[in-house]
Amino acid sequence: MRNAVIYPGSFDPVTLGHLQVIRRAARMFDRVIVAVLINSSKNPTFSVSERIDLLQQATEDFENVEIAGFNGLLAAYARERGVTAIVKGLRAVSDFEYEFQMAIANKKLNPDLETIFITADSDLMYLSSSMVREIGSMGGDISHFVPACVHDRIVERLRKK
Ligand code: PNS
Repeated sequence: MRNAVIYPGSFDPVTLGHLQVIRRAARMFDRVIVAVLINSSKNPTFSVSERIDLLQQATEDFENVEIAGFNGLLAAYARERGVTAIVKGLRAVSDFEYEFQMAIANKKLNPDLETIFITADSDLMYLSSSMVREIGSMGGDISHFVPACVHDRIVERLRKK
């Protein structure tokens, strides 16, 4: 698929930082495939279907964004989908080393694959899904961290946990 990009991640749950990367990628590419990792060793809080549902709701205004689940290697999934670009969000320098290693490994596994980094806006640099989970599960206000349209669903789910 020409001029398409995959944005992979755990999205446990989607944050405003993720949404910003999606919005910016959707302006640069004809199609953005937001790919949720299914077989994660991370033991996610939100199930795959919850994470996909939340992303679908948060991106329903974007015509060129698709939400999908993927299993196994990202490099293989990209090949299977005929996509030659991955987009990742970079928050701070601390993200860089891990992301750099993944970009090199993915390129070795699939030489056609380019990794493109989008830097977070300064007001979202500190934000992560794990922070949202921790604050939300302790009853804190997460309205500045998650898309407004999925805020209540995330709060309700984290309180039930
Ligand atoms: O949101 P995350 O948890 O930082 O996303 C990590 C993700 C899903 C992008 C990464 O773990 C991944 O690509 N996993 C798929 C398995 C794979 O391809 N591993 C080798 C990458 S070097």
